[in-house]
Amino acid sequence: MDLFPRIDAALREAVRLAQGPDGETPQRLAAALDHATMSGGARVRPTILLSVALACGDDRPGLSDAAAAALELIHCASLVHDDLPAFDNADLRRGKPSVHRAYGEPVAILAGDSLIVLAFEVLARAGIIAPDRGLRLVCNLAQRTGMPGGICAGQGWESEPLVNLGAYHRAKTGSLFVAATQMGAIAAGQEPEPWEELGARIGEAFQVADDLKDALLTEAETGKPAGQDAVHGRPNAVALMGVQGAVRHLKDILGGAIASIPACPGEARLAGMVRAYAERMTPVNLGAQAARATGAK
Ligand code: IPE
Ligand code: IPE
Ligand code: MG
Ligand code: MG
Repeated sequence: MDLFPRIDAALREAVRLAQGPDGETPQRLAAALDHATMSGGARVRPTILLSVALACGDDRPGLSDAAAAALELIHCASLVHDDLPAFDNADLRRGKPSVHRAYGEPVAILAGDSLIVLAFEVLARAGIIAPDRGLRLVCNLAQRTGMPGGICAGQGWESEPLVNLGAYHRAKTGSLFVAATQMGAIAAGQEPEPWEELGARIGEAFQVADDLKDALLTEAETGKPAGQDAVHGRPNAVALMGVQGAVRHLKDILGGAIASIPACPGEARLAGMVRAYAERMTPVNLGAQAARATGAK
């Protein structure tokens, strides 16, 4: 099932809410919200969230849609802030100028802030459908966004003299994947705990794949600056275990991810989705480039 139209509609509705009536809100900031959210993006996290919700019966689709939109809003906000000169100083995102390059730093900071607040507003509004689930969604997304274990913590590790690599990756990247699986379960009325391992494993695999792409692909292929891990001296899977080692590690993690899917009505379909996602994360060309880069050890 193509979940893109569902995600796109929920996200557009959310962004329109924040933009307010034409002419009555700061128009550059309103435009920056569009730029940050509607300029492409693979929508991986909301796709996983809705897939888990569907696997659990998706009996409150309005709540699942809101959860999917809220999660993607947090992700987009994190990218706006991550690209700022204070962080990665990146000029390009999703093949287009980053938000601060297009609208200036003050507007980019405010756009990121507005998207974070909007995410929680979207959950609070939709929570009226099932308030117990709504509150759990708010709490889960907050834990994956701030301190001590969310994106803020992840980005915070980059300012520490000594980095705990596991904690850094779990917070920076893994947190929103755990949010994806757990929020999908909560929106459909299920307990989140059994879904933590799947999210954590997908997140770990995603980080390794991202490290490989950063090392091996060009700016034209990824739509963002290449070779950033080496430029910023960030710890990463390629530096740690070499290209072939990282590819092998990626396959191991994804095997474990499929094995960790909890028993649920849509288990087989969900396993198919993770397999398809794994295929996308290990594209043949990535493997071929890996072989070229290392002489296929
Ligand atoms: C990029 O995430 C940021 C990381 C955590 C590595 P994505 O690769 O999902 O970015 P978009 O949303 O598709 O642009
Ligand atoms: C950005 O991380 C994702 C956040 C959690 C903010 P990176 O800096 O590693 O990813 P890219 O390469 O800019 O997408
Ligand atoms: Mg960064
Ligand atoms: Mg970055």
